[in-house]
Amino acid sequence: MAKRILITGGAGFIGNNVARHLTANGYTVIALDDLSLGRASNLPADILLQTGDVADECVWDAVPDVDSVIHLAGPSSTPMFSSDLIGSFHSKIIGFLRMLEFARRKECRRIIYASSALVYGNAPIPLREEGPLDISNFYATAKYCLESIAHTYSLKYGMDIIGVRLMSIYGLREDHKKELANLVSQFIWDIERGRKPTVYGNGTQTRDFTNVQDVARAFQLILEHSQPLGSMILNVGTGKAVSLNDLIGVLSELMGVSVQPSYIPNPSGENYNRRQVASLERITQILGYRPSVSLQDGINEILTFRRQGSNSDKDNSDDRRVIV
Ligand SMILES: NC(=O)c1ccc[n+]([C@@H]2O[C@H](COP(=O)([O-])OP(=O)(O)OC[C@H]3O[C@@H](n4cnc5c(N)ncnc54)[C@H](O)[C@@H]3O)[C@@H](O)[C@H]2O)c1
Repeated sequence: MAKRILITGGAGFIGNNVARHLTANGYTVIALDDLSLGRASNLPADILLQTGDVADECVWDAVPDVDSVIHLAGPSSTPMFSSDLIGSFHSKIIGFLRMLEFARRKECRRIIYASSALVYGNAPIPLREEGPLDISNFYATAKYCLESIAHTYSLKYGMDIIGVRLMSIYGLREDHKKELANLVSQFIWDIERGRKPTVYGNGTQTRDFTNVQDVARAFQLILEHSQPLGSMILNVGTGKAVSLNDLIGVLSELMGVSVQPSYIPNPSGENYNRRQVASLERITQILGYRPSVSLQDGINEILTFRRQGSNSDKDNSDDRRVIV
């Protein structure tokens, strides 16, 4: 029988792409999402979507038995914490604990949860899981709390709970995130509208832009690893630093326009993330993970997808199975 995986935040950007990837690889996926940001139309009709807040205890009674959980639900960026600090922590921490309790009750084999490269802040690069952290905002604080809870929970109950420190993830179907979407998407949207992309500072800051397909592959490798993993932290990235100026250069070439960004003084001050590139040593050694999508190929895929007008709508079916 196909392995059943619960993806919380499954109607969101990473969730819908991981759900599609796992379904295509023989898994049965159930998505749980409160649709506060994600969209039901991000998911194809054959993926069961249960709507509900992960922090709400009753919601978990309706979730069917699953083998493993991928936990992505919750506020997905720093500005959300600024606009609702208490609500964001409630959703992140209580939602995480409720998920863990569910997984323990159901004797789930493995849990993967999204941490973030932001826990590294401006730590020396390449960013190493065992290296220093530099936590300078509430979003990163919340992610670090999850890592700490996961560690204690795994020790106490002997469960495999793997935190993935995701770098800067881009790819298809993140329109719902609007101004909170990855810079790759935002710059594409700006250029399509004839607007200048806004760049903080002089554009030399770097990001490890990682295609969401590579995230999905990394998750599958974690799910299928035959040995116990305990409480583990793994970077997921490409190991390549790309400056925003270089990104603008790639977009200019692929979109056939000469893009002149609008450089503005950085409003975030000292806490701004100036550099980001993951060490992939650990994930390569343990899982054999290697990124496979180049930035050029990933951007071309988005451009083709948008030209075809398939943006989120193609799989939007009225007969999709939704449990409310
Ligand atoms: N996209 C990135 O570059 C990136 C980088 C590092 C970490 N992450 C983490 O990965 C996860 C997924 O991010 P994403 O980019 O797909 O963002 P997203 O906002 O598209 O996905 C999050 C999903 O969770 C849902 N959600 C929010 N609160 C919920 C709740 N209380 N109960 C149920 N569902 C809820 C939203 O509706 C949304 O569909 C997040 O935890 C984010 O912090 C993302």
